Amino acid sequence: MTELTIAIAKGRLQAEALDLLTSAGLGFSSETLASRRLAVEDESGLYRLIFVKPADVPVYVEHGIADCGIVGRDILLESDADLLQPLSLNIGACRIAVAARNDAPVSQLGMLRVATKYPRIAARHFGARGVAVDIIELSGSVELAPVLGLADCIVDLVETGKTLRENGLCIIEVITESVARLVVNRASYQLKAEAVGQFIKSLEDTLRRRASGD
Ligand code: PRP
Repeated sequence: MTELTIAIAKGRLQAEALDLLTSAGLGFSSETLASRRLAVEDESGLYRLIFVKPADVPVYVEHGIADCGIVGRDILLESDADLLQPLSLNIGACRIAVAARNDAPVSQLGMLRVATKYPRIAARHFGARGVAVDIIELSGSVELAPVLGLADCIVDLVETGKTLRENGLCIIEVITESVARLVVNRASYQLKAEAVGQFIKSLEDTLRRRASGD
């Protein structure tokens, strides 16, 4: 019987998360990994993985549909879900940064127009500096906004920096670093203490082995 359901953020984090879980002892057939199924069980039948959009991981875990989740800190900073965050996973490292066009200095006149998928992070960042901003919320391809004149700058995730470079943008300021975290539903942490504890321990052991280069 399935003991734990784990929500995995689809996309950039997915391969690293699966690799981590495999190293921690969960087994998946290559057929399962190659499939487009959004809910799969590991070979022991103890773990069920569900693959959801990154922003939905906190939602599934807070509502107890998933006991645990693997998601970036960037997403958690945007979410107001009440979750436990027992472990930083050392995968999915990236930065959240302010970026603008290489060829056009950001004007200090008037309201700064900031395009972003991270409205809360952006509002907090500029709010703390007392800079008046008009936040333009987008769902993706944020780098286009300053290029096409929709915004003066962006607040976005930067991993390799390739998307910024290839669109003629550069980092003005790094707001924060992000890395993937394990999140746990508060009730599951109590009611499934043994299974959750065992899962956390297997991840900790794996992270320790990785850190020591084994
Ligand atoms: C993210 C982010 C940047 C890009 C950064 O977008 O918003 O656009 O990746 O990665 P890089 O520094 O390695 O180039 P994502 O790929 O998630 O797609 P999206 O634009 O649809 O949000």
